[in-house]
Amino acid sequence: MNQPDKEYLTVALPKGKLFGLSADLFAKIGYTAEGLSDQSRKLIITNEEKKIRFIVSKTADVPTYVEYGAADIGVIGKDVLLESQKDVYELLDLGFGKCHLMMAVPKDRKRARLADYANTRVATKFPHIAERFFSQYGMQMEYIKLNGSIELGPIVGLSESIVDIVETGTTLRENNLEEIAYIMDATARLIANRVSFKLKFDRISAMVQDLKTVMGQN
Ligand code: PRP
Repeated sequence: MNQPDKEYLTVALPKGKLFGLSADLFAKIGYTAEGLSDQSRKLIITNEEKKIRFIVSKTADVPTYVEYGAADIGVIGKDVLLESQKDVYELLDLGFGKCHLMMAVPKDRKRARLADYANTRVATKFPHIAERFFSQYGMQMEYIKLNGSIELGPIVGLSESIVDIVETGTTLRENNLEEIAYIMDATARLIANRVSFKLKFDRISAMVQDLKTVMGQN
Protein backbone atom coordinates (compact mmCIF):
# COMPACT_ATOMS: atom_id res chain seq x y z
CA MET A 1 0.00 0.00 0.00
CA ASN A 2 1.31 3.48 -0.74
CA GLN A 3 1.27 6.36 1.70
CA PRO A 4 -2.02 8.06 0.76
CA ASP A 5 -3.86 4.74 1.23
CA LYS A 6 -2.93 4.81 4.89
CA GLU A 7 -4.99 7.95 5.37
CA TYR A 8 -8.14 6.24 4.19
CA LEU A 9 -10.21 3.45 5.60
CA THR A 10 -11.37 1.31 2.69
CA VAL A 11 -14.63 -0.56 3.20
CA ALA A 12 -15.75 -3.35 0.83
CA LEU A 13 -19.51 -3.73 0.55
CA PRO A 14 -21.21 -6.61 -1.28
CA LYS A 15 -23.66 -5.96 -4.09
CA GLY A 16 -27.08 -7.55 -3.71
CA LYS A 17 -29.12 -8.50 -0.68
CA LEU A 18 -26.66 -7.26 1.98
CA PHE A 19 -25.81 -3.95 0.32
CA GLY A 20 -28.71 -1.80 1.50
CA LEU A 21 -28.60 -2.97 5.12
CA SER A 22 -24.81 -2.59 5.23
CA ALA A 23 -24.89 0.94 3.77
CA ASP A 24 -27.70 1.91 6.18
CA LEU A 25 -25.75 0.62 9.17
CA PHE A 26 -22.58 2.47 8.19
CA ALA A 27 -24.61 5.62 7.56
CA LYS A 28 -25.81 5.48 11.18
CA ILE A 29 -22.23 5.93 12.38
CA GLY A 30 -21.53 8.69 9.87
CA TYR A 31 -19.83 6.46 7.32
CA THR A 32 -21.51 7.73 4.18
CA ALA A 33 -20.44 8.82 0.73
CA GLU A 34 -22.34 10.68 -1.93
CA GLY A 35 -23.59 8.37 -4.66
CA LEU A 36 -22.98 5.16 -2.71
CA SER A 37 -25.19 2.59 -4.44
CA ASP A 38 -24.86 -0.96 -5.70
CA GLN A 39 -26.42 0.17 -8.98
CA SER A 40 -23.72 2.73 -9.67
CA ARG A 41 -21.12 1.99 -12.34
CA LYS A 42 -18.65 3.91 -10.23
CA LEU A 43 -16.97 1.21 -8.18
CA ILE A 44 -15.00 3.30 -5.70
CA ILE A 45 -16.84 6.03 -3.84
CA THR A 46 -14.83 8.31 -1.58
CA ASN A 47 -15.75 10.57 1.29
CA GLU A 48 -12.76 12.94 1.31
CA GLU A 49 -13.80 14.72 4.46
CA LYS A 50 -13.97 11.54 6.54
CA LYS A 51 -11.23 9.73 4.62
CA ILE A 52 -13.43 6.75 3.87
CA ARG A 53 -13.48 4.84 0.61
CA PHE A 54 -16.17 2.34 -0.31
CA ILE A 55 -15.56 -0.46 -2.78
CA VAL A 56 -18.71 -2.13 -4.12
CA SER A 57 -17.95 -5.64 -5.31
CA LYS A 58 -19.52 -8.98 -6.16
CA THR A 59 -20.46 -10.67 -2.89
CA ALA A 60 -18.07 -13.60 -3.29
CA ASP A 61 -15.13 -11.25 -3.91
CA VAL A 62 -15.38 -9.25 -0.65
CA PRO A 63 -13.20 -11.69 1.38
CA THR A 64 -10.55 -11.58 -1.38
CA TYR A 65 -10.32 -7.76 -1.33
CA VAL A 66 -10.02 -7.86 2.44
CA GLU A 67 -7.52 -10.73 2.64
CA TYR A 68 -5.15 -8.94 0.24
CA GLY A 69 -5.57 -5.57 1.94
CA ALA A 70 -7.19 -3.88 -1.05
CA ALA A 71 -9.96 -3.18 1.47
CA ASP A 72 -9.30 -2.74 5.19
CA ILE A 73 -12.69 -3.97 6.24
CA GLY A 74 -15.72 -5.55 4.60
CA VAL A 75 -19.20 -6.90 5.11
CA ILE A 76 -19.93 -10.48 4.10
CA GLY A 77 -22.32 -13.31 4.94
CA LYS A 78 -20.88 -15.99 7.22
CA ASP A 79 -21.75 -18.58 4.55
CA VAL A 80 -19.66 -16.89 1.86
CA LEU A 81 -16.88 -16.14 4.36
CA LEU A 82 -16.55 -19.77 5.45
CA GLU A 83 -16.68 -21.00 1.88
CA SER A 84 -13.98 -18.55 0.80
CA GLN A 85 -11.45 -19.98 3.31
CA LYS A 86 -9.80 -16.54 3.40
CA ASP A 87 -7.54 -15.52 6.23
CA VAL A 88 -9.23 -12.43 7.71
CA TYR A 89 -10.34 -11.28 11.15
CA GLU A 90 -14.02 -11.61 11.91
CA LEU A 91 -14.80 -8.56 14.03
CA LEU A 92 -18.54 -8.46 14.54
CA ASP A 93 -21.77 -10.33 13.89
CA LEU A 94 -23.95 -7.63 12.31
CA GLY A 95 -27.13 -9.62 12.91
CA PHE A 96 -28.86 -8.94 9.59
CA GLY A 97 -28.97 -11.12 6.48
CA LYS A 98 -30.20 -14.08 8.53
CA CYS A 99 -30.42 -17.31 6.58
CA HIS A 100 -29.42 -20.93 6.94
CA LEU A 101 -27.60 -23.44 4.83
CA MET A 102 -29.28 -26.72 4.17
CA MET A 103 -29.57 -29.71 1.88
CA ALA A 104 -32.75 -30.04 -0.19
CA VAL A 105 -34.12 -32.55 -2.66
CA PRO A 106 -37.15 -32.77 -4.98
CA LYS A 107 -40.19 -33.73 -2.88
CA ASP A 108 -41.15 -36.56 -5.20
CA ARG A 109 -37.68 -38.11 -5.12
CA LYS A 110 -37.08 -38.04 -1.39
CA ARG A 111 -35.11 -41.00 -0.06
CA ALA A 112 -35.62 -42.55 3.38
CA ARG A 113 -32.35 -41.58 5.03
CA LEU A 114 -29.57 -39.03 4.51
CA ALA A 115 -27.11 -41.90 3.98
CA ASP A 116 -29.15 -42.99 0.96
CA TYR A 117 -27.72 -39.97 -0.91
CA ALA A 118 -24.09 -41.13 -0.50
CA ASN A 119 -22.11 -40.97 -3.76
CA THR A 120 -24.72 -38.83 -5.52
CA ARG A 121 -24.31 -35.38 -7.08
CA VAL A 122 -24.92 -32.17 -5.13
CA ALA A 123 -25.29 -28.82 -6.88
CA THR A 124 -24.02 -25.94 -4.75
CA LYS A 125 -22.31 -22.59 -4.49
CA PHE A 126 -20.71 -23.92 -1.28
CA PRO A 127 -18.67 -27.07 -2.08
CA HIS A 128 -16.29 -26.64 0.88
CA ILE A 129 -19.07 -26.24 3.43
CA ALA A 130 -21.02 -29.08 1.81
CA GLU A 131 -18.00 -31.39 1.88
CA ARG A 132 -17.37 -30.61 5.54
CA PHE A 133 -21.01 -31.40 6.31
CA PHE A 134 -21.20 -34.70 4.43
CA SER A 135 -17.82 -35.89 5.68
CA GLN A 136 -19.21 -35.77 9.25
CA TYR A 137 -21.46 -38.62 8.15
CA GLY A 138 -18.71 -40.39 6.27
CA MET A 139 -20.46 -39.58 2.99
CA GLN A 140 -18.52 -39.09 -0.23
CA MET A 141 -20.36 -36.89 -2.72
CA GLU A 142 -19.80 -35.42 -6.14
CA TYR A 143 -19.94 -31.62 -5.94
CA ILE A 144 -21.15 -29.61 -8.91
CA LYS A 145 -20.27 -25.95 -8.46
CA LEU A 146 -22.91 -23.52 -9.70
CA ASN A 147 -22.90 -19.74 -9.32
CA GLY A 148 -26.63 -19.11 -8.96
CA SER A 149 -30.13 -20.56 -9.40
CA ILE A 150 -28.88 -23.67 -7.58
CA GLU A 151 -32.44 -25.01 -7.30
CA LEU A 152 -32.35 -25.76 -11.03
CA GLY A 153 -29.81 -28.54 -10.46
CA PRO A 154 -32.13 -31.39 -9.48
CA ILE A 155 -35.00 -30.10 -11.64
CA VAL A 156 -33.01 -30.48 -14.84
CA GLY A 157 -31.26 -33.68 -13.75
CA LEU A 158 -27.86 -32.13 -13.11
CA SER A 159 -27.82 -33.36 -9.52
CA GLU A 160 -29.87 -35.36 -7.01
CA SER A 161 -29.78 -32.62 -4.37
CA ILE A 162 -28.67 -29.08 -3.57
CA VAL A 163 -26.80 -27.43 -0.72
CA ASP A 164 -27.86 -23.79 -0.60
CA ILE A 165 -29.08 -20.99 1.60
CA VAL A 166 -32.70 -20.52 2.59
CA GLU A 167 -34.03 -17.19 3.70
CA THR A 168 -37.82 -17.15 3.36
CA GLY A 169 -38.24 -20.64 1.86
CA THR A 170 -40.02 -19.25 -1.21
CA THR A 171 -37.50 -20.55 -3.75
CA LEU A 172 -37.68 -24.08 -2.32
CA ARG A 173 -41.48 -24.03 -2.29
CA GLU A 174 -41.80 -22.66 -5.80
CA ASN A 175 -39.54 -25.38 -7.13
CA ASN A 176 -41.06 -28.32 -5.18
CA LEU A 177 -37.94 -28.91 -3.17
CA GLU A 178 -37.86 -29.98 0.46
CA GLU A 179 -35.21 -29.32 3.06
CA ILE A 180 -33.94 -32.65 4.43
CA ALA A 181 -30.88 -31.57 6.44
CA TYR A 182 -29.91 -28.41 8.31
CA ILE A 183 -26.26 -27.40 8.00
CA MET A 184 -25.67 -24.01 9.69
CA ASP A 185 -27.07 -20.54 10.36
CA ALA A 186 -25.50 -17.48 8.78
CA THR A 187 -25.65 -13.70 9.26
CA ALA A 188 -23.65 -10.76 7.93
CA ARG A 189 -20.21 -10.30 9.49
CA LEU A 190 -17.77 -7.41 9.66
CA ILE A 191 -14.32 -8.61 8.63
CA ALA A 192 -10.91 -6.93 8.63
CA ASN A 193 -7.57 -7.39 6.94
CA ARG A 194 -5.07 -8.68 9.52
CA VAL A 195 -2.41 -6.03 8.80
CA SER A 196 -4.92 -3.17 8.56
CA PHE A 197 -6.33 -4.19 11.90
CA LYS A 198 -2.94 -3.58 13.51
CA LEU A 199 -1.95 -0.49 11.50
CA LYS A 200 -5.34 1.20 11.81
CA PHE A 201 -6.25 -0.31 15.16
CA ASP A 202 -7.57 2.90 16.78
CA ARG A 203 -9.75 3.81 13.86
CA ILE A 204 -11.15 0.31 13.34
CA SER A 205 -11.79 -0.23 17.07
CA ALA A 206 -13.62 3.10 17.31
CA MET A 207 -15.73 2.12 14.30
CA VAL A 208 -16.58 -1.30 15.82
CA GLN A 209 -17.52 0.42 19.07
CA ASP A 210 -19.80 2.87 17.23
CA LEU A 211 -21.41 0.02 15.30
CA LYS A 212 -22.05 -1.88 18.54
CA THR A 213 -23.63 1.23 20.03
CA VAL A 214 -26.05 1.80 17.13
CA MET A 215 -26.84 -1.93 17.08
CA GLY A 216 -27.75 -1.66 20.76
CA GLN A 217 -25.10 -4.14 21.89
CA ASN A 218 -23.78 -1.77 24.55
C1 PRP B 1 -30.40 -17.23 -2.80
C2 PRP B 1 -30.31 -18.72 -2.67
C3 PRP B 1 -31.71 -19.18 -2.96
C4 PRP B 1 -32.55 -18.02 -2.46
C5 PRP B 1 -33.14 -18.36 -1.13
O1 PRP B 1 -30.27 -16.91 -4.15
O2 PRP B 1 -29.34 -19.27 -3.54
O3 PRP B 1 -31.89 -19.36 -4.34
O4 PRP B 1 -31.69 -16.89 -2.31
O5 PRP B 1 -33.99 -17.34 -0.68
P1 PRP B 1 -35.49 -17.63 -0.25
O6 PRP B 1 -35.47 -18.75 0.75
O7 PRP B 1 -35.94 -16.33 0.37
O8 PRP B 1 -36.29 -17.97 -1.48
P2 PRP B 1 -30.03 -15.43 -4.63
O9 PRP B 1 -31.29 -14.66 -4.61
O10 PRP B 1 -28.91 -14.84 -3.86
O11 PRP B 1 -29.64 -15.60 -6.15
P3 PRP B 1 -28.91 -16.73 -6.95
O12 PRP B 1 -29.91 -17.83 -7.17
O13 PRP B 1 -28.52 -16.06 -8.21
O14 PRP B 1 -27.72 -17.18 -6.15
